Amino acid sequence: MDALLAIRARGITKCFGDVVALDGIDLEVAQGRIHGLVGPNGAGKTTLLGLLLGLAVPDGGRLEILGTPVEWALATPDGVAGFVDGPGLYPSLTARQNLAALAALRGRDARTAGIDEVLDEVGLTEVADDRTRGFSLGMRQRLGLAAALLTRPRLLVLDEPSNGLDPAGKQHVNGVLTRLAAQGSSIVLSSHRMDDLEALCSEVTIIATGRVVFSGPLGKLAADDRALDYRLRTSDPVAARRLAEGTDGVRIDDGAGARPDGANTLVVRARVPALDDLVERLVRAGIALRELAPVVSPLEAAFLALTGQPREQPSQERTQEAGR
Ligand SMILES: Nc1ncnc2c1ncn2[C@@H]1O[C@H](COP(=O)(O)OP(=O)(O)O)[C@@H](O)[C@H]1O
Ligand SMILES: [Mg+2]
Repeated sequence: MDALLAIRARGITKCFGDVVALDGIDLEVAQGRIHGLVGPNGAGKTTLLGLLLGLAVPDGGRLEILGTPVEWALATPDGVAGFVDGPGLYPSLTARQNLAALAALRGRDARTAGIDEVLDEVGLTEVADDRTRGFSLGMRQRLGLAAALLTRPRLLVLDEPSNGLDPAGKQHVNGVLTRLAAQGSSIVLSSHRMDDLEALCSEVTIIATGRVVFSGPLGKLAADDRALDYRLRTSDPVAARRLAEGTDGVRIDDGAGARPDGANTLVVRARVPALDDLVERLVRAGIALRELAPVVSPLEAAFLALTGQPREQPSQERTQEAGR
């Protein structure tokens, strides 16, 4: 089975002085998959992805990439491309010239390297002859992706690629990555936000302070039956509150997650069976249900709980975003 793995990492450790950045990381990614690496700032994502790209050497552990053990020669393993901490670009060169320089470094003829194709693929054709000095972060990310695509990688490693991308840009890049995976390439990409990865990845590894706290399919993460905050809007908020107060397993949360506009909105914290009970009682009492939605997506909530981050902060952020 191992022959089908794009990445097989066992017990990877990496320290910077006293800081243990990676503390025994195991990671398996099958070929053709889009695997998300998610964790809060400082979790160790960039350090781990840097090891996959051959940019650093671990202090311990074993790593096989595309079936070959990595010998830690500080070189990017064959078939791997990508970047960490944003792509390195020459600011005084245009997008096209940057790609041509990279192709030349790899001993390829710029005319036949497929530069126009990759620029088109990432949506940079119109700015191909602009100097990258003026590029936004999102444009730089796209150009970094184009540079990686130029090598036709079998394993693509991207560190927070959606940073700086607007929603349309994100969708575009997701499309590129999905096509690439459908053609058999494997992709590992990181984010500090679960919701960045939900649309793209079928499986994730969650790390916190250098350790894996979850690895597996998203479905398994979402199936977790912890209590979540739900926003509940009904035709009769006073009666709804009374019923919620009287339902076992349901707790009213008047703090976080309540919408500023929301006299009609109640935030309740419950597991799914208790929530079902409440809905049934509301309907039986003739109260119309106008909105029932988790304040934070179940995946994001699982991520926050696993990484020990407070739930209040993101839900307030989300509330402000929704109110804008
Ligand atoms: N070159 C470095 N020198 C010292 N400490 C580092 C270095 N790179 C990373 N670290 C530390 O290692 C930990 C993991 O960092 P990093 O991999 O950048 O996390 P993430 O990408 O998840 O935000 C952090 O505590 C960070 O401060
Ligand atoms: Mg990072």
